[in-house]
Amino acid sequence: MAFREYKIGSRMFAFALGSSMMITLYFPSKDIASVQATKTALNRQLSFGRIGGFSVEDPFLKGKGKPVTVFLNKDPKTGQPIEPVTAYVYPAGVPFPSGLRHPRILGEGVKDLSLGQGRIADAKEGSGAVFVVSEAGFNGKTLSYIENATATRGWQPGEAVAAAGDANSRYIGSGKIMFVREGCWWCHTLLPEETQDWQYFGAPPMLGDFNGESPTAFGSDRKAPDLLHVASRNSSREWMTMHFYNPRLVQTHSIMPRYDYLWGEKDAAGNKIDYDKWRAEYNEYVAGKRVYAPEVPQPAAESEARMLIDFVLALK
Ligand code: HEC
Repeated sequence: MAFREYKIGSRMFAFALGSSMMITLYFPSKDIASVQATKTALNRQLSFGRIGGFSVEDPFLKGKGKPVTVFLNKDPKTGQPIEPVTAYVYPAGVPFPSGLRHPRILGEGVKDLSLGQGRIADAKEGSGAVFVVSEAGFNGKTLSYIENATATRGWQPGEAVAAAGDANSRYIGSGKIMFVREGCWWCHTLLPEETQDWQYFGAPPMLGDFNGESPTAFGSDRKAPDLLHVASRNSSREWMTMHFYNPRLVQTHSIMPRYDYLWGEKDAAGNKIDYDKWRAEYNEYVAGKRVYAPEVPQPAAESEARMLIDFVLALK
């Protein structure tokens, strides 16, 4: 009967599917490798870790298996004061981002410097490593590259975290997971457009700003301000803390949902957070029966709220 048509049709279907998969999987990486990764791209991927979304190491999107970004003003090995530097700490077992796994996608020059001077091929996920972003000349141009500070300076992950302390540690990679999981992209974009957008939200990104980041969280539909450079407009941790606990505390008519549940059970001082009491007092405040809104609890160091705020404040 008409079986012949089915055979032809299914072959055509297989060919179309196969070639579109080829294009999707192979060609974008070819494009990416033809652009040099910018300093922004290196900082982004090193602070986010391997996957900024659903992954095998973090199937429930809890922010697990991510690096810690630390600010160091002393050498973690010797304890001597140094020029302040941002370092990305990958404790043993934390997966490396794409640029370290496939240096080719860093683009010409950045790849060469990272492999040569940066010694990134010596870094092993099994034993962990500390990375920094450094600069050097390549064919007459100054480029940023990834330096494996464990190989070049002898910095160990544990020592780097201890030298920084909690006040100088940021959970940016785990925070990006919160951003994706909580659907912030439903209202916010991370992509100012090449229009008047620029005047308020800041410059659109460059093509090379995303080499090695997977996936990006550009968003598509915008019901709220673009956040790519939000911390350049507002870098207040206190404001962010209040705004995430309940946006109406700082923006009376905000349609943004409250994210108080990201605070978890206990606050930074280890006290149980009494959400019912807080709501009751807040309702009194809204009704005009209290002069001040109730205090917002300080998020605990390991809370999801802390991770999210660290991520948002790194969007500069
Ligand atoms: C229902 C839509 C909606 C969702 C979902 C949402 N927001 Fe918002 N957001 C807004 C609106 C509207 C504003 C502007 C008014 C205000 O500041 O509350 C805003 C403001 C902000 C601001 C301040 C922006 C500026 O220019 O100063 C930040 C930061 C922010 N949101 C972060 C987040 C994060 C992070 C998430 C996810 C955890 C999130 N938002 C989820 C609607 C949303």
